[in-house]
Amino acid sequence: MTTKGLADVVAAETRLSEVLGEEGRLIYAGYEIQDLAAHTTYEEVCHLLWYDDLPTAARLNGLRARFADALPVDGRVIDVVRQAPRHAHPMTVLRTALSALAFHDADAEDGSEEANERKAIRLTAQVVTLTAAIGRLQAGQEPVEPEPGLTLAENFLYMLNGRKADPISARAMDVAFILHAEHGMNASTFAARVAAGTLADMHGAITAATATLKGPLHGGANEGVMRMLMAIGSVEAAGPWVRAALERGDRVMGFGHRVYRTLDPRAPILRGLAEQMIGQDGSAVWLRISDRVQEVMREEMDRRGKRIYPNVDFFSAPVYSTLGVPIGLFTNIFACARMSGWTAHVIEQQRDNRLIRPGSEYIGGAARTVVPLARRG
Ligand code: SDX
Repeated sequence: MTTKGLADVVAAETRLSEVLGEEGRLIYAGYEIQDLAAHTTYEEVCHLLWYDDLPTAARLNGLRARFADALPVDGRVIDVVRQAPRHAHPMTVLRTALSALAFHDADAEDGSEEANERKAIRLTAQVVTLTAAIGRLQAGQEPVEPEPGLTLAENFLYMLNGRKADPISARAMDVAFILHAEHGMNASTFAARVAAGTLADMHGAITAATATLKGPLHGGANEGVMRMLMAIGSVEAAGPWVRAALERGDRVMGFGHRVYRTLDPRAPILRGLAEQMIGQDGSAVWLRISDRVQEVMREEMDRRGKRIYPNVDFFSAPVYSTLGVPIGLFTNIFACARMSGWTAHVIEQQRDNRLIRPGSEYIGGAARTVVPLARRG
């Protein structure tokens, strides 16, 4: 019996996170997401995912130093980004550059857990540098070298904008990284685990995950939300726009989820970040349009008897827009944060591995005999 989309199929045990869909709760290794978002930094969450607990101050300083050492990316990989056509999607460029990192990583073909841990740390830093470099080069600007002493979130904004971010923006970026770090067996993580399950290398698994995240039904939705808000253009236009989209049978980006049957717990935290930054770069208008879209979707979904609520992508759009991130880079930011979760899942998969190979239900032609080509008409 085929389960389309593997809905409700449990594919693995994990210690990394628990997504409670009915309750709308997200827990990373025993910690509620609201607690982590309010009281930790992204670097601490990386430590939690890789080492199964939050770090002491000494271990945090050690991890930060390893991130700092890994932030500068080999010039030959930056050249891969530089040679990509300007029109290439930033996630296509990122996927290619992440794959190219393996050419210059001495651990690339070492599948030991120690090597995978080193690669997890390097990749989680390098993806930030690569994303900023992609944004700069596609804007016709030269990449900016990482600044020592900054966190990953601060360095991302520094390398992207060429100046240090204000504390509110830096904290918003850091919390956005925390919220996007890990989410159980989502499609891109599953892709990473399938690759890891063949004992393929870390860079290969991460390349598969990055390619998967790009899709508009998954990580690509945050870019879709921003383009929707821009197409709507005003609070007054939100209702007619949403209703017309639903009448066409379109999926409204940023709504719905395979697991959550109520509000995604990350959405209100992201909305709060947007509200804190309100007034910068006209974010107020995006927030007001977002709120109106949410109201109309609530009315329409209630009328249809559907439990469709905003997900993480819905309010990440106004946050990233306010941070001055180009729309095309929105999904790359998701990849920056999820790198920690993907690498943690690769390590977990290979620690107790079995090839991931589900069955399939054959519904094709039956009992056919070859007719020689000359007689096939
Ligand atoms: C992420 O899995 C994760 O954990 C992912 C993620 C993570 O952190 O890794 O949480 C991040 O990817 C969030 C999701 C981002 N995607 C979007 O915002 C794209 C829009 N959402 C939909 O495409 C949809 O909700 C999915 C893909 C997210 C979930 O799809 P499902 O579970 O396969 O549900 P479905 O498409 O079968 O829809 C069920 C019903 C349908 O109606 P009927 O055909 O039964 O009448 O709900 C409707 C759908 O039409 N529906 C929507 C809708 N989402 C579902 N209707 C309008 N707008 C939507 N967004």
